[in-house]
Formats: sequence, structure tokens, C-alpha cells
Amino acid sequence: MTHKIAVLPGDGIGPEITEQAARVLGALGLDLAMETAPVGGAAYDAHGHPLPAATLDLAKNSSAILFGAVGDWKYDSLPRQFRPEQAILGLRKALGLFANLRPAILYPQLANASSLKPEVVSGLDILIVRELTGDIYFGQPRGVREVEEGSFKGEKQGFDTMHYAESEVRRIGHVAFQAAQKRSKRLCSVDKANVLETSQFWRDIMVDVAREYPDVELSHMYVDNAAMQLVRAPKEFDVIVTGNLFGDILSDEAAMLTGSIGMLPSASLNASNQGLYEPSHGSAPDIAGKNIANPLATILSAAMLLRYSLNEAAQADRIERAVQAVLEQGLRTADIHEAGTEKVSTSQMGDAVLKALK
Ligand code: NAI
Ligand code: MG
Repeated sequence: MTHKIAVLPGDGIGPEITEQAARVLGALGLDLAMETAPVGGAAYDAHGHPLPAATLDLAKNSSAILFGAVGDWKYDSLPRQFRPEQAILGLRKALGLFANLRPAILYPQLANASSLKPEVVSGLDILIVRELTGDIYFGQPRGVREVEEGSFKGEKQGFDTMHYAESEVRRIGHVAFQAAQKRSKRLCSVDKANVLETSQFWRDIMVDVAREYPDVELSHMYVDNAAMQLVRAPKEFDVIVTGNLFGDILSDEAAMLTGSIGMLPSASLNASNQGLYEPSHGSAPDIAGKNIANPLATILSAAMLLRYSLNEAAQADRIERAVQAVLEQGLRTADIHEAGTEKVSTSQMGDAVLKALK
């Protein structure tokens, strides 16, 4: 069966890094039909909208989306609906991408990139599963209103609403438990159940979902403690599952632990395992067009695409092993370069990964 893959390069370094990832996908010998379409600022420039109808249609009709990055300061003054980042929000919404998988891996060869001590962080390999479509980010009502009683009576007040429906917690719970089953079988659910009703509810549902996964050990942690433990002893974690707000913050914190933003992939999945795969970093306009960006986060995103949307785990392993091999050979793009290693360009890094696949 032919798998259709939408390739959406976007802005800044997006085209350079997706080109390398698409080359790697194309070299595996799988039956893939890759089709490229504009997204983000590039799409706004060409078609007047960051997510043109033809791009959205292609995405909807594909098994998976390989996404570069969107955004540039030159679009900052546009009305919100035309800004590049609206493309990602639009894709998440149209495809129902509710599960965000953000691995934080620190390869032993890059241990010096972290500001933490090597013994604390070298070999780190954790997975944060963040709920992506609910929580206080989307809850209604929200806005600015006049306070009607109490000590702030008569003042204006900004407000948002946090809520999670049972089915929303269950479905992200299942994704996280199944991910934990494929790893070390430990899952930590992060919430603020000592203060928030939404979190107590989240916790109760997670405990219930756990009954279906007797082989996975479920623990719970308050988000403030989790933020501390991630810095103190990050290797104590394996899979973390959490809501949209806490996941936004903790996944960026975990990414920073590795010190190598150019190395971190991500996946956003829906209920039918259709997914959007993109590097965790942005469009890096400061280095765009120079052939110096690190393509490995995008290449590793392509590996996640194979693992989660195409059910090709062996091919995903193959790519991940090839990335390990090029690091082992001492090849580094500028962002991860250090004394004693060989500095290579974006395309040379792509060449090296292709060669290491064999
Ligand atoms: P950024 O991640 O694009 O860049 C931060 C720093 O990391 C820059 O110095 C950049 O050169 C470097 N960097 C990032 N990726 C790299 C790579 N692969 N290789 C080497 N160096 C790399 O974040 P920033 O600067 O805050 O945002 C730039 C633009 O990207 C903004 O317009 C922002 O809105 C957008 N953005 C887009 C995202 C997406 O498409 N999902 C996510 C985050 C930001
Ligand atoms: Mg964030």
C-alpha cells in the first residue's frame, strides 16, 4: 500500500531541514508518495493565507505530515488570522491532533551540550505526552469582565476557564499508557490535584485507565515538584503524561535540559494515528538559507512518523541508529559543534545520515 505523506516545509530553515528528512524517508525503499505544499508565511506570501485550502486538503488526505517550521518577524504586524503560526493551530484543529509526543533525549556524545552535570543528564531519554486540544488554553468562557463582588469589586478582571472532559483525559491516558508499554513501563501523571478540581478529576480518571494496563506502573506528581525533579534527577522519569498548560511548560523545560534544540523531534497524533511531525525548534530566521541548520530534529521526526503513523518501527529504528552513527563519527552541525569534532553543513549532515542507513 502506498502511504501518502504531506511535506510542508514552511519558513526560515524549514525548507532546508525538511529536504534532508524527505531524502532520508525516500531512501528507505518504502512505498511512499510525498507531496509538498506551502504553509506558514511562505503560503501567506504566495496565496494570502498561512494554511491554504489546498494545503489543508493535502494534509487531511495524507497518512502523515512532515512539517518544517513556520514564522518570521516580518509577519508580526499581520492580523492574527494571517500569522504563520495559525497554520499549526488550524492543522491541529482540522485533524483533531490531541496527543503531543515530545521526547527529550541527550545522546552520550552530546553530554557537554547540557548545562547540567553529565552524570545527572547523560543518556537522558524521556517522553512527555502532552494533551494538546483542551485545558485552559481553549476553555470557555474567557475574556475581560467586571468583578461583581469581593475585594476587587468594580475592577476589570482577565479570566480563563480550565476544564477537561472525561473522554479527553481517557484518550490521552491511553496514548501515554501504550507509549509506556513500549518503553520501561513506568508512567508519571503530572497535575496540581492539591489545588485544582480539574487536576483531581484528571488524576481519578488516570487511575481508572490504569486498570487496563496492569503491566504499567502509574505514579502521580504535582507539577511544581515535577519542574524541580526534571532539573534535579531527570533520568528518574520515563514517560510523563500531563495536560496542555503544564505540558507546554514541562516539555520546553525538558528540551532545554538536553541543550540541543536542533536534535529534538515531536509528534502530534489524532485518534486514527494520523500525525503531524516537526522538530521542536522554530524557523530560526537568524540562520535561514545558509545551509548550517541542524537537520537531525527533523530527520528524527521522520523516524517518529514511521513509528507512530506508518507502523514501521524497524525503519524508525534504522533512522535513529543512523543518527547515532553520524554522532559517533564525530560529525556536528554548527549548533552542536565542539572541539575535536568535525563541523558539517545541513546537506552534508543529510548525506552522512543517508550513508549510515546502509
Ligand atoms: P527558534 O527555535 O527558531 O530559534 C531559537 C535559536 O535556536 C536560534 O538561535 C536558532 O538559530 C537556533 N536553532 C533553532 N533550530 C535550529 C537548528 N535546527 N539548527 C541550528 N540552530 C537552531 O526559536 P525563536 O527564535 O524563538 O523563533 C523563531 C521563529 O520560529 C518565530 O517566528 C517563532 O514564532 C517560530 N516558531 C515556530 C515554531 C513551529 O513552527 N512549530 C515553534 C517555535 C517557534
Ligand atoms: Mg511552548
